[in-house]
Amino acid sequence: MKIAIGCDHGGISLKKIVLPILAELGHEVHDQGTDTESSVDYPLYAKAVCELVAEGKCDYGILICGTGIGMSMAANRNEKIRAALCFDLYTARMSREHNNANVLCLGARVTGPGLAEEIVRTWLTTDFAAGRHLQRIEMF
Ligand code: RB5
Repeated sequence: MKIAIGCDHGGISLKKIVLPILAELGHEVHDQGTDTESSVDYPLYAKAVCELVAEGKCDYGILICGTGIGMSMAANRNEKIRAALCFDLYTARMSREHNNANVLCLGARVTGPGLAEEIVRTWLTTDFAAGRHLQRIEMF
C-alpha cells in the first residue's frame, strides 16, 4: 500500500522507528517530513499527509507528534479524514474495524517504540468490519 507519513520535532524519534517497519512490510512510503529535531508546526505536516490520503494518492496516513493529540486534531479538520490517536493494540484494532480510520496518530512522548511498532502492524493489517459501522461513519 501507499502510506503517507509525517511528524513534527516531537515525533521524529518515533518516525525513525516506524519508517523501516513500513519498508519491511513492503509499503510504498511517502514521507512528508519533518526530518530534523528543529521546532516546526505540526498542522503543516498533518495537512500534507491528509491531503495525500483525501486525494486518493495514498491509502493511509501516519502522523506522529509528541502526544499525538495535535496531529489528530489537525488531521480531523479534513472532512475526508478519520484520524485515530491510538495508545494500545485494542484502540488500534478497533479504530480500523469500527471506525475505518484512514490516518493513525501516535504520540512519541507517550508510546514506547516496541508498543508503537505493534500498533502500526495491527493497524495496517486490520480490515474495516463495515455493516452497521458503515452507516455510522457516514453520519459524520
Ligand atoms: C511539540 O512540543 C508538541 O506540542 C507537539 O509535538 C504535539 O505534542 C502537539 O500536540
